[in-house]
Amino acid sequence: PQAAPPQDARPTAFTFRVDAADGHARTGAITMPRGTIRTPAFMPVGTAATVKAMYPEQVRDLGADVVLGNTYHLMLRPGPERMARLGGLHRFMLWDGPILTDSGGFQVMSLSSLRKLDEQGVTFRSHVDGTAHHMSPERSIEIQGLLGSDIQMQLDECVRLPAEPEAIARAMQLSRRWAERCRVAFGEQPGKALFGIVQGGDVPALRVESARALVDLDLKGYAIGGLAVGEPQAVMLAMIEAVEPHLPRAKPRYLMGVGTPDDLLRSVERGIDMFDCVMPTRAGRHGLAYTRHGRVNLRNARHAEDARPLDPSSACPASRDYSRAYLHHLVRSDEILGMMLLTWSNLAYYQELMAGMRAAIRAGRLADFAGETRETWARAEA
Ligand code: GUN
Repeated sequence: PQAAPPQDARPTAFTFRVDAADGHARTGAITMPRGTIRTPAFMPVGTAATVKAMYPEQVRDLGADVVLGNTYHLMLRPGPERMARLGGLHRFMLWDGPILTDSGGFQVMSLSSLRKLDEQGVTFRSHVDGTAHHMSPERSIEIQGLLGSDIQMQLDECVRLPAEPEAIARAMQLSRRWAERCRVAFGEQPGKALFGIVQGGDVPALRVESARALVDLDLKGYAIGGLAVGEPQAVMLAMIEAVEPHLPRAKPRYLMGVGTPDDLLRSVERGIDMFDCVMPTRAGRHGLAYTRHGRVNLRNARHAEDARPLDPSSACPASRDYSRAYLHHLVRSDEILGMMLLTWSNLAYYQELMAGMRAAIRAGRLADFAGETRETWARAEA
C-alpha cells in the first residue's frame, strides 16, 4: 500500500494520468482534493447515501477509492438544500473520499411515474411520495453541487434497447445539447469534474457522432451510457470498440452501470477506466456470491452442510471465515447478517478483481491474467 501524501501535497486540481498500458487497457490514477482513484476502478453504489449493508470504513478498507451517489434519490430524500445545510454528502454519510454522482435522468426513467421529457428537462412524480418535480440540466448540476459531488455527470436520456434508430438518434442529440447546458452551469471548478455521457444505443455511427460532439466540449472525463440495458454482451463490447478510438487517451473513460466480473474484464481490455454497478451489492442482498471461483447461489440446498468458506484465500473475513452452511442458513432465514456478509464478500471480490487487473496491466500481462481468471471461473462451473 502507498503512503498517504503529506497534507501540504494535497492536490487542488482534478488530474488523470496513465502509468502503464497493455493493449487498449490502461492503469493510472485520478488525483483530486479528496483523494486518489486508482484506475481501472470499481465504484460501489451508494444510492441513498449508503452502500447498502456496509459501513463506510469497510468500503474504504476493501480498497474502494470512490463511491457513487444518486441525484434522483437524494433530491427526493433528504433533499439537496437540506443536505447542503448539513455540510454535504461526504459529512452526512462519513465518506471523506471522492464521490461521483449520477445526474438523475436515468433513475427518473426507471423509478418514477408519470415522467415527461422535453427540451427543457424531465418532469416526474416521486416514487417516494408522489410529489411532482422538474429537473433541467442546470438544476441537475445545481443539485450535484449542493450534495458536494466531486465528479458530476451531465443530464442525459438513455433509451432501453431494442429501440428504433430514430428514437436513439433523438435521445443522443438531446443528451448532446444537455451536455452543453451542463457545461455552462458547471463553469470552472478546478478540483471537481463534469463528465459527458456518450449515447447512441446500438448504432455505431450515432455512438461516434455523440463521442465527437462531447470531446469538442473538452470535458474532464467521458462516460459511455445506454449500455447493459437489455442488449447482448457482444453488442455492448462492440459499442465500446466503436467509441474508444474517439475518446482522448489522456482522460478517464467510465462505463455506466456495468457489470458482471466478466463484463469488467472484457471492458478493461477495451480501454475502460471506471465502472459502477449495483450487481455485487444487490446480489449480496439476494443470497448470491461472486467469488474467485465464480457465482455461488447460497439459497441452494447443496450448501446446507458445506463447512467450507466461500474462498479460503480471500483477505475478506466474510469470504474467508464463515462457512457456506452458515451463509446458507442466514440467507434462508432472511437474517440481516446474511445480506451484510454477502455484500461485504462480493465487494471484496470486485475490488480484488480490479486490483488484479491494475497489477496485470502494469506488468504487461493482462491477457494472461484474463485467461487465468476465466479458467478459474470455468473450473468451478464445470
Ligand atoms: N447508469 C447506467 N446507464 C446510464 C446512462 O445511460 N445514463 C446515466 N445517467 N446513468 C446511467
